[in-house]
Amino acid sequence: MPTPLMLNAFSPEHAESLDSRTREMIARRQRVLGPSYRLFYEHPVHFVRGEGVWLYDPDGVPYLDVYNNVPSVGHSHPHVTAAVARQAATLNTHTRYLYDLVITYAERLLATFPPELSNVMFTCTGSEASDLAMRVAKCFTGGTGFIVTEAAYHGITDAVSGISPSLGVHVPLGANVRTIAPPARYRADGSIIEDVGGVFAASVEHAVRDLRRHGIQVAALIADTIFSSDGMYSDPAGFLKPAVATIRQAGGVFIADEVQPGFGRLGTHMWGFQRHDIVPDMTILGKPMGNGIPIAGVVAKPSVLEDFSKRARYFNTFGGNPVSCAAGLAVLEVIENERLMANAEDVGRYLREGLNKLASLNSCIGEIRGAGLFIGMDLVADDQLARIPSPALASRIVNGLRERHVLISASGPHGHVLKIRPPLPFSRENADHFLAALSQVLAEQR
Ligand SMILES: Cc1ncc(COP(=O)(O)O)c(C=O)c1O
Repeated sequence: MPTPLMLNAFSPEHAESLDSRTREMIARRQRVLGPSYRLFYEHPVHFVRGEGVWLYDPDGVPYLDVYNNVPSVGHSHPHVTAAVARQAATLNTHTRYLYDLVITYAERLLATFPPELSNVMFTCTGSEASDLAMRVAKCFTGGTGFIVTEAAYHGITDAVSGISPSLGVHVPLGANVRTIAPPARYRADGSIIEDVGGVFAASVEHAVRDLRRHGIQVAALIADTIFSSDGMYSDPAGFLKPAVATIRQAGGVFIADEVQPGFGRLGTHMWGFQRHDIVPDMTILGKPMGNGIPIAGVVAKPSVLEDFSKRARYFNTFGGNPVSCAAGLAVLEVIENERLMANAEDVGRYLREGLNKLASLNSCIGEIRGAGLFIGMDLVADDQLARIPSPALASRIVNGLRERHVLISASGPHGHVLKIRPPLPFSRENADHFLAALSQVLAEQR
């Protein structure tokens, strides 16, 4: 299975159509960064400045960002940059000294969670947070087995890449890992699954039994609550409930990966798990948490952390340092002050309506899913066989939009799901701009 990113990415055969300045920069980059890195788009983009939902190339040409969820409150947001600059000019140490801001930020962050989730441990990246959550889950349950979805991505460490099947067949899954189908409403043959939650829970049950048959006790079910890398599965809200009950019955914990859906992106709720009316045992946070400043973490029930804390001390050199916490606090303030969740809900609905109109005119558009400003749109090969994924078409559309200075990407195990996930200040006017460009690119494909 090629990784989806490969499909939209630059590869050497595209170099000839690039200007000499870009070609040189790619060569220089490759010389020092080596071959593991990828560049988005057949014609890679080079940005020198960002503001709100716009990125600017060296000639000052603006590109509409409909993809990035790290600068979630907007590129280079002045409230965040001022907080970071102020803090960097005052003090930047670590969590082994008393410092009020770190505690204040933890309090403000935890106030956005249900009261059961009342401890936070800071890390620098989502991968570290996933890794830490795995360690805690093993300690709390005594189990070692993990259940994840078929195209899950939870990060890059040795342990975490082993629970991230979306990295592809050359990155081995652990022998203690079982994958289950994502909670899709459609089967491969196009028939509809009525009880998405029941079917998903049954897969969890099946995986638990299979682990047991191999002498492995389950530690956790880990799920991204919007299933980003699986192709974005959002509805019906509540479908995670039976799976969470199932994993707990089996002696495991439920870890909600909120790295992608968290921090208000889904509009109605701050956290993706809240749409499902569940309280996880742990949640993993990252990406938008510092609007680009590295800060991530695990939010957990104190009872789940208790044993782990007795056995192991926790220190993460940069995790939760004052500058990162200043960024984190400023992000929470912007989300509230600019009513970004209400905006995500309003503009997200408007965008989905626009996409549904496009779907009625374009038979290559399959299901449109999502919540708030996190939308997935299937591209399918043929309307007679409406569910056959078309990664090639998705790639042409992603690259076609890039040529029109609009940035998105594609996701899912086949790379055929357009991932529409702009910074949260995205307006209805921005949505119209995106829909017009998408409509033109789709027309070119007919
Ligand atoms: C759902 C999810 N979990 C975890 C991670 C890992 O986060 P990081 O790249 O900060 O290590 C990612 C990153 O893409 C992610 O999408």
